[in-house]
Amino acid sequence: MADKKGTYYITTPIYYPSSNLHIGHTYCTVMADAMARFKRLTGYDVRFLTGTDEHGQKIQTIAEEKGVSPQEYVDGVVAGIKDLWKTMEISYDDFIRTTEDRHVKRVQAIFNKMYEKGDIYKGEYEGLYCTPCESFWTESQLVDGCCPDCGRPVQKAKEEAYFFRLSRYEDQLIDLLENTDFLEPESRRNEMLGFIRQGLDDLCISRSTFDWGIPVPIDEKHVIYVWLDALTNYITALGYPDDPELFEKYWPVDVHLVGKEIVRFHSIIWPAMLMSLEIPLPKKVLGHGWLLLEGGKMSKSKGNVVDPVKLIDRYGIDALKYFLLREYTFGQDGVFTNEVMLKRMNYDLANDLGNLLSRTASMIEKYNGGIVPDATTEDDIDRDLKAIAVGAANKVEAQMDKFAFNMALEEIWIVIRRANKYIDEKCPWILARDEAKKAELDTCLHNLAEVLRIVSILIYPFMHTTSDKIRKQMGLWYADVVWEDAMEFEMMYQEQVKKGEAIFPRLDIEKELAELEEMQKAGSEPEEENIPLELKPEIEYDDFDKIDFRVGLIEKAEKHPKADKLLVFQVKMGTERRQIVSGVAEDFTPEEMVGQKVIVVANLKPRKLRGLESKGMLLFAENGKRCEIVTTTAPDGEAVN
Ligand code: MSP
Repeated sequence: MADKKGTYYITTPIYYPSSNLHIGHTYCTVMADAMARFKRLTGYDVRFLTGTDEHGQKIQTIAEEKGVSPQEYVDGVVAGIKDLWKTMEISYDDFIRTTEDRHVKRVQAIFNKMYEKGDIYKGEYEGLYCTPCESFWTESQLVDGCCPDCGRPVQKAKEEAYFFRLSRYEDQLIDLLENTDFLEPESRRNEMLGFIRQGLDDLCISRSTFDWGIPVPIDEKHVIYVWLDALTNYITALGYPDDPELFEKYWPVDVHLVGKEIVRFHSIIWPAMLMSLEIPLPKKVLGHGWLLLEGGKMSKSKGNVVDPVKLIDRYGIDALKYFLLREYTFGQDGVFTNEVMLKRMNYDLANDLGNLLSRTASMIEKYNGGIVPDATTEDDIDRDLKAIAVGAANKVEAQMDKFAFNMALEEIWIVIRRANKYIDEKCPWILARDEAKKAELDTCLHNLAEVLRIVSILIYPFMHTTSDKIRKQMGLWYADVVWEDAMEFEMMYQEQVKKGEAIFPRLDIEKELAELEEMQKAGSEPEEENIPLELKPEIEYDDFDKIDFRVGLIEKAEKHPKADKLLVFQVKMGTERRQIVSGVAEDFTPEEMVGQKVIVVANLKPRKLRGLESKGMLLFAENGKRCEIVTTTAPDGEAVN
């Protein structure tokens, strides 16, 4: 192992356990995992944190619908998330759940600190609220009058709440974004600066309309609203504020890896909170792009998510990880298609890497009894191969410093493709026919073995299982994977090679495409949506209680003599008979209404409609186009509650 180069703390967003995770979440976690493994291999003392963001109205509502407590609900989903990370061999050092005691008590301590400092105060919040997203929006942020995140309707809402004095930190935030490389990609920086320059409102950090959250320590009617609860996970998991050991060791964090939609929270709200707490700021917030489907964004409610588990079952963890890291450019959106994935798996993994290993292992078995021979000759082709192979590690490292996973892998594949070309140039099968060329043949086989040894080190952070398989076949099972060894040639000495199964079987793309499509169709029943209705303002129970609903029997119905749209009904309720006029002549004939038992608002103040008195109102279900009659079999005159 290399000398320790210092600490490296990396985090993913903490995911909402509202439902199972899809390939988009997997993408972020796979990148963080590859980086954590890379840093460990290159000599850093790494801490890799992930977790789940478990509070809020949405979770509470889902749990209620399922008839379980929110805690029971999240426990179930979180167990599934942990299983997924286990299956994918995600090497996190800590998994924080915001419902854990350690987090709850530390968030409360943080709240108190900010409150005592005067950065938290009580006020009243009024805004347009999107329940599924748990977000208040301003009028100007709405898109077509709906939530800009999910496109669903918003409702006016007002509540007493605690606020964080975000506005106090405007100048410091501008300075941070203008004068440091705290936020990347750079394009995001200008967007955020523009946002701050419009003026920052103080941030509402509590709610009293639901209770699934961490209680505000000074006022138990309120729970702490999601962003103060969520963002602080990055420090509460390190023990802040009461247990300084890990915090002092790993803070400030090296990288918060986040999707582009939450860059704003991480580059404005989060640093302001840390400024308030007077603790150092993150070294970097890195926003990555989204994985899209051809039809647009992946969404559980649209039923178009790609399930990573199914792909892993079929193609293996390493193939999926490789594809995600190789195909997409960090910071940009990318489209996920089965075809692109299958092609990558076939061309890069089965053809390039798989073939290099199987050809090399079989030739060493066939031409040298399975023992890696020594190299005693060298020509320009050998020198070229060697130079490319030993030079790759530094190039990979340079790409990883930029989070350019795809380019890091490309550097490795340059070596792999060069080695395949080397086989074609050297034609070992021809050298083998001539005793006089034995030394040249030995060099060729030796060099190929060396390249595979180097490749097994280079790919280790991205695909460690494949690396292990290569090392096993090349007789290197006994040696540790050491990054610096990828910069050396001539490290192999008479290892015993044993050809194994193909590490990546060739796929029949047409057949796979058809089967995947079938599979994805079968598993893509859209989830039932739960979009709150757009309603008139809430009324008090007492208001409702003023209305007297009764069952009424329509004894007689006729057209209004002066209005085409109105019908005039004679309605019996108990022993009382009265006239009610309704605007339903376009939907019903008088004949079909006679004999129906309907629900009547019986204590509505009488009024005249085109000259005829109407005493009460009949209830109809209506969708703005057509009315449906609401009937009952209860005796007329009976109260409806
Ligand atoms: N709980 C908040 C984050 C709080 S962090 C203090 C949250 N959770 S989430 O479950 O919605 O996860 C969001 C993250 O998942 C994104 O930021 C991104 O990293 C990842 N992705 C979710 N869908 C994605 C895609 N379709 N494509 C790529 N990444 C995606 O927001």
